[in-house]
Amino acid sequence: MLDVRGIHTYYDQSHILFDVSLSLRRGEIVGLLGRNGAGKTTTMKSIGGMLRPKTGSILFEGEEVAGRKPFQLVRRGICYVPDDRRIFSDLTVDDNLGIVHRRTPEWDRGRVYELFPALREIMGRRAGVLSGGEKAMLAVGRALMSGPKLLLLDEPTEGLAPLIVKTVEEQILRLKEAGISILLSEQNLKSSLRLIDRAYIIDNGRIRFQGTAKELEDNEEIRRMHLMI
Ligand SMILES: Nc1ncnc2c1ncn2[C@@H]1O[C@H](COP(=O)(O)OP(=O)(O)OP(=O)(O)O)[C@@H](O)[C@H]1O
Ligand SMILES: [Mg+2]
Repeated sequence: MLDVRGIHTYYDQSHILFDVSLSLRRGEIVGLLGRNGAGKTTTMKSIGGMLRPKTGSILFEGEEVAGRKPFQLVRRGICYVPDDRRIFSDLTVDDNLGIVHRRTPEWDRGRVYELFPALREIMGRRAGVLSGGEKAMLAVGRALMSGPKLLLLDEPTEGLAPLIVKTVEEQILRLKEAGISILLSEQNLKSSLRLIDRAYIIDNGRIRFQGTAKELEDNEEIRRMHLMI
């Protein structure tokens, strides 16, 4: 479904991603793991169209999409959910779901509330007063409104209390059951191992490891070298 081949991405003159390749099959949850500053967000923004790789190729459903604009990619079914959530604090939960630009027949607010019943309970609340976990859920709910085939979830559990992390994990698994493929960036290896089918480890802008969740779990040396644990 997604095939990233040898991309190099820069911020102005600084070369950040070096020959990054990764792939994702339909229905998979694939982890993109790495420490602070490793290049996770840069990789996701390169796939989501917020950054344009200087060289390399990004194939989505067999079509070259490198360099396309975010709105064009959303239309094709790729949606990036940023780590800072970027929800509208002054609007209610329900209005945050309603203002999505691209509408799709498969998803409406009702279906989002069905998938995340906890959102329905707070639909009239101003988004600015939500807890971290509720904001994370709203950000994903809003992404669903555009009918994504591939979600790029950037550290969805960052800064959340352990109990809330569990809730967000359950929600991510529900997305998978709904047939959505997910590229999940995480620093938290423990949490991601409960979710992912396969993983890539990125360090200093380079992919250092790829393998199944089990292979990563069994490879302590790789974990110590490139992750926290
Ligand atoms: N706007 C920017 N301009 C210049 N350099 C940047 C910019 N954003 C990030 N960088 C640099 O690019 C590198 C990769 O950053 P990136 O945000 O992709 O890492 P990350 O893995 O997402 O880290 P984190 O876990 O902190 O979110 C870092 O060295 C960072 O300092
Ligand atoms: Mg990041």
